[in-house]
Amino acid sequence: MGSSRKDRAIARRTFLGFAAAFTTAGVVGTITTDNAKARAAFDDALSAWTSAGEAMDASAASFSAAQSDAVTVAAEASRVLEVTDPEMIDDSATLDTLRASLDALVAAGLLTIVSPGEVTASPSEPEPRSTPAAPEGREAQLAQAQALSAQATRLADAAAGTERSVTELESAADTTRGRIEAVVAAAAAHGAAAEVPELATQETKDAYATALGALADPAAGSASDRISAYQSAWTAVEDSHAAAEAAQSRGGGSTDDDIQPTYVNGILIVNKTYRLPSWYGNGLTGDTLAAFERMRAEAASLGHNLWIASGFRSYSTQVSVYNSYASRDGSAAADRYSARPGHSEHQSGLAFDLNTITESFGYTPEGQWVAANAHRFGFIVRYPQGKEGVTGYIWEPWHLRYLGVDVATAVYNSGLSLEEYLGITSSYD
Ligand code: DAL
Ligand code: ZN
Repeated sequence: MGSSRKDRAIARRTFLGFAAAFTTAGVVGTITTDNAKARAAFDDALSAWTSAGEAMDASAASFSAAQSDAVTVAAEASRVLEVTDPEMIDDSATLDTLRASLDALVAAGLLTIVSPGEVTASPSEPEPRSTPAAPEGREAQLAQAQALSAQATRLADAAAGTERSVTELESAADTTRGRIEAVVAAAAAHGAAAEVPELATQETKDAYATALGALADPAAGSASDRISAYQSAWTAVEDSHAAAEAAQSRGGGSTDDDIQPTYVNGILIVNKTYRLPSWYGNGLTGDTLAAFERMRAEAASLGHNLWIASGFRSYSTQVSVYNSYASRDGSAAADRYSARPGHSEHQSGLAFDLNTITESFGYTPEGQWVAANAHRFGFIVRYPQGKEGVTGYIWEPWHLRYLGVDVATAVYNSGLSLEEYLGITSSYD
């Protein structure tokens, strides 16, 4: 970043030098019958053109430096957004501000987010210019001087425009850097406020304390790595606590050993009425992943960027996800958008969340393409708009469920939710 500021200072000096040379080319605008004056006008215009070209090259170089810094920041910002669980930071609004500043960064520079952590920049090389020789004759020299002056003006405008873009890009990158730190700070605040569950093993508690300490230490890794390590340590503590609790309660006979997965017309059903046993699931199924890859590739060929923001979630992960929502919003509110452990489709390995888990995803080109095309790859938008009364959940344009192409297409064409299509309920009673 320091070097890009230096480049900009050089660009500005070159630009001022050019402006001084350019005023001497005013003679081009006056008619002259003098051969020497025609030659002088050509020489002046050539020197103005050369200075403007150098200013343009210097501006382009400082843009490249700012752009490559912005690529690094954008890659880290998108990685932070990818790995951060909104429930494990103290203020999830910080994620929205980071998302907004990433958008601003993309808007300010020629950057493309290929996938979380992978950002590319389109090169902005200036056009190569070769120095013109003075033509023979007064008329030709004057004409060439005029053409060079016009080109010099265009180059100067381009250099000034590039300078403005560099300023914008640098400021967007600085803002984004600050917001990445704000997400780290929000995770640390969560850690400071969290009560470590008592039944967890000492080993997981110690690892958690270490990961919490590392959040504040940039030497411990990138922001995304530190957040991710902290979250894993927290999940491990919670899992360990849940396992100890389950072991304790087995004495009281409350196990889920007798619960079996429910199939209706050959379709695995996981909703508020039908739950999975806690042991069920070990990742997204092969069919689900392969179908996602086909959908992602076709979407990409149309310029839509799709990625899995949340895939398989184990029973114990869902314990922490649901509990943190319930402690934030109360269980009645949480039940409208988050499944209780055992009741989440994420545990089935057949469901995942795309891109951004916000209602606004439904209005993006990606969200609209998904709504209209996911069935062709075997998916349905599981919780459609206006169906909370039957599915039990608010509209989730990002949550897809794999059913295979035939069933997904039939459900899509019916215009019904899966519950209505199969004539089943979804309620906790
Ligand atoms: N958000 C959905 C309902 C889940 O928690 O599985
Ligand atoms: Zn989901």
